[in-house]
Amino acid sequence: MDNATPMDNATLTVQDQTLELPLTKGTENEVAIGIKALRPSTGVITMDPGFANTGSCESAITFIDGEKGILRYRGYPIEDLAEKSTFSEVAYLLIYGELPTADELESFRRQLRRHSLLHEDMKKFFEGYPPSAPPMSVLSTIVASLAAYYPVANTDDDVNLNIIRLIAKLNTIAAFAYKKSVGQPYVYPCNDHSYAGDFLHMMFAVPAERYDIDPLLTKTLDMLLILHADHEQNCSTSTVRMVGSSGADLFSSISAGIQALSGPLHGGANQAVIEMLEQIENDGRNIAKYVELAKDRDSDFRLMGFGHRVYKNFDPRARVIKQKASEVLDQLGVDDPLLDIARELERIALEDEFFVERRLYPNVDFYSGIIYRAMGIPTNMFTVMFALGRLPGWIAQWLEMKKDPATRIYRPRQIYTGSTERAYEVIGER
Ligand code: SDX
Repeated sequence: MDNATPMDNATLTVQDQTLELPLTKGTENEVAIGIKALRPSTGVITMDPGFANTGSCESAITFIDGEKGILRYRGYPIEDLAEKSTFSEVAYLLIYGELPTADELESFRRQLRRHSLLHEDMKKFFEGYPPSAPPMSVLSTIVASLAAYYPVANTDDDVNLNIIRLIAKLNTIAAFAYKKSVGQPYVYPCNDHSYAGDFLHMMFAVPAERYDIDPLLTKTLDMLLILHADHEQNCSTSTVRMVGSSGADLFSSISAGIQALSGPLHGGANQAVIEMLEQIENDGRNIAKYVELAKDRDSDFRLMGFGHRVYKNFDPRARVIKQKASEVLDQLGVDDPLLDIARELERIALEDEFFVERRLYPNVDFYSGIIYRAMGIPTNMFTVMFALGRLPGWIAQWLEMKKDPATRIYRPRQIYTGSTERAYEVIGER
């Protein structure tokens, strides 16, 4: 990882003090002001709710240009990877920094297959959940419990083995969570299949019936996992880094990231989009009504799958997924009215001043649920699919944070607005 390049200082005048603060520039010419000296020199802090203008780290993993709709993993455009690569290869690229040779990729895949089983005792955790348990909560809890079976890793080799275990087992944990929710027997991993193919096999195979993995569904799922694999310092990735910055182990850090992703403003949006489209369909397809609701500041209704903190242009992932949605549904012979509603909603919104002015475009979640539905994946498992894809990115970011000598435990400051000092007096009988 190249360090950011020092530039001329920025001059900041705060109350009666003038400060020279260092400027640094990244390899894509992004510039940051280093404010480490600000509070020690002036007692003043910065305030940036949601950290919209605040960098937490230097990173060499993923680059996003929100203005131009660019997304690259380790320099490779997402469009190329989605079309030509595989999820295992992209996971390797994100985590280890370079594309693997054929032998390295085969070894990586062999390790993933070797570690895909869960300890038989872990099945007891699933037994304790009611069928209605939110799959993301089950995922997060079971991932955290991996620390009970695999000791905290101290050497690089131990850490790498836990990385392999986590990627391999998350596939199985996700499928087991689904099987538990529908009361079907677990289907164990099978080493003949690819990562995506084995997920479909564990999700949909049932005893006494032949299940043939559809190569179209496998390729489509593999592509969706690639498109979700990393996205620089988003909410869940920042959570993984924050938890890891305290020295917490990989499993605990990822478990926290899964919970952060579950929120409807983040990864939970793909499920919320389908629920929104179903609501519109059930309400006589009154799209205009919902566009107006989304614009009404007094209503808490939002167009789920629209808008993004960073993309002020099309989310390049949404562009690929929208195209794939049409192709996959055509090839599967699925005619989903929700796809028509989504397209019409997008068309109306992108011609409406409210959305144009705020530069709100479809994001990665707007069309992904349409494809998951066509694949037979239930709505409450959509965000689990997002987590499966995002895992290599979380791991890569966690590793980079651990290895970065500049890493300090995350501990933001605040501006206190509560009561000033007051004397304590006993009010009632104690
Ligand atoms: C993901 O960060 C990442 O990289 C995340 C992600 C990843 O890969 O990790 O890309 C994955 O989380 C994608 C986003 C999924 N979430 C949704 O689709 C939920 C709907 N979108 C929004 O809630 C919102 O757009 C966010 C949360 C995505 C971004 O929120 P911001 O950047 O804090 O923007 P904001 O809430 O300050 O909105 C700015 C304005 C506001 O209006 P005004 O106050 O200026 O009048 O735009 C409006 C908002 O009301 N607005 C919307 C809207 N999104 C923003 N109005 C209607 N519908 C929407 N979807």
